Amino acid sequence: MDDKLKDFYELHRRRKSIREFSGRLVEPEKIERLLEALRRSQSAANRQPWHFIVISDREGRAPLDEVFTKEGFRKAPLLIVACADPAQAWTRRADKVNYAWVDTTIAVTEMIEVATAEGLGSCWVAAIEPELVREKLGIPGQIDIVAIIAIGYPEKELVVEDKARKPLAEIIHHGKW
Ligand SMILES: Cc1cc2nc3c(=O)[nH]c(=O)nc-3n(C[C@H](O)[C@H](O)[C@H](O)COP(=O)(O)O)c2cc1C
Repeated sequence: MDDKLKDFYELHRRRKSIREFSGRLVEPEKIERLLEALRRSQSAANRQPWHFIVISDREGRAPLDEVFTKEGFRKAPLLIVACADPAQAWTRRADKVNYAWVDTTIAVTEMIEVATAEGLGSCWVAAIEPELVREKLGIPGQIDIVAIIAIGYPEKELVVEDKARKPLAEIIHHGKW
């Protein structure tokens, strides 16, 4: 196997949710690369139905403090609020399913891989009160708030361990359900 591909597998193995961050700030050039990963992500019919609010300064983070239930997230030096815009998204004709959340989720996932490659830890935070976030950040009513991604250098050294996951036999169906 190509050595570069091996690195990808290592990256995939290393990603895990980090909920405690050190005080170290994320360098602006790293933030730029994370944002570029969001921009370059794939989306249904290339509609790119997303917006991301980047909060990288202490003053900006403060209004979101009460949004988080875990203290660790309040200390994250970088927050990315992932928003989906259903009006911009592709809709599957057969059942009218709107792909805005799918597309936004893919972009975030790709960004998280890049964050891992940059030595950063991150955690999806979906357990928020979207209306509170909307009010604090002035997000328009037609926009969905998918999650906040907390990003920063992990407080503790990363320990790579086997993930608690369902066995393949439970989730893979060969040929038919
Ligand atoms: C869509 C989504 C929402 C999540 N929301 C939260 C959250 O609100 N709070 C939290 O502490 N972790 C949250 N997580 C992290 C998951 O708990 C975590 O991904 C899962 O336990 C697997 O662990 P791992 O990420 O370390 O592999 C979320 C993850 C995903 C993918």
